[in-house]
Amino acid sequence: MTSDALFQSILEDTRALLQRDRNPRKNTIALLPETAALLEGPILDQPGKAPTDTPATSTPPRPADMSGPATVVEPDLGGAIDALRLEVSGCTKCGLCKTRKQTVFGVGNLNADLVFVGEAPGADEDRLGEPFVGKAGQLLTDIIEKGMLLTRNDVYICNVLKCRPPDNRDPQPDEVAQCEPYLIRQLELIRPRVICALGRHAAQTLLKTTESTGKLRGTWHNYHNIPLRVTYHPAYLLRKPEDKRKTWDDVKQIMKVLRGEESPAI
Ligand code: URA
Ligand code: URA
Repeated sequence: MTSDALFQSILEDTRALLQRDRNPRKNTIALLPETAALLEGPILDQPGKAPTDTPATSTPPRPADMSGPATVVEPDLGGAIDALRLEVSGCTKCGLCKTRKQTVFGVGNLNADLVFVGEAPGADEDRLGEPFVGKAGQLLTDIIEKGMLLTRNDVYICNVLKCRPPDNRDPQPDEVAQCEPYLIRQLELIRPRVICALGRHAAQTLLKTTESTGKLRGTWHNYHNIPLRVTYHPAYLLRKPEDKRKTWDDVKQIMKVLRGEESPAI
């Protein structure tokens, strides 16, 4: 075997091991310091020898921490999300690609414990390429900052549809069907501890139900073993501020779980 072929085979074995042993929650793997040091030398630091499925923009691995019993190397979650974002940006699976200014993929912390899922971009989001930046977005930001005492950067925010429906009409079933795989992959990659579905379209898509927001909120649901809470959509709350109190109740339940004070039986 040439040294290049040997290098490739070690690299492949190592990547298979990393894949097998990674922590599914945080996409990390615990390594002995000696192993981390070895990986950092010949494998991870090879100049010009980036693994073939790692985009050139990926961040370098963390330096080995020799002080503790184990150190952590993060496989390329950012690269995987970037690749998905790129795929979405060129999507032509439904008619919304003809009327969108741009796709609106998602924003926030890839290691977030909490993901908010909304319905679809509106005019502001279509123009700026970021979810929840218009009037409803300001209310969501207030919920995050004033209600949860977090920032938009602590959480992750996305929508069921990545393209704006013309005149903000409801998403159509075929549009949801074409777009949902992107949301599923986003949630698989981020693997939050809690999902908050904002309004009817997010709740019905994620939970495969036709129940109303009012019926679905107030209790915990199970989305592929991730606790999911439904609350009112911020745009609805702008029209019906008297229901903000119920969203505040939902937020309090979410915070209890995020703080580890309660673990919902789902
Ligand atoms: N409403 C949504 O559902 N999503 C957005 O991104 C903005 C408004
Ligand atoms: N209908 C929706 O679509 N969302 C809500 O939050 C309430 C009613």
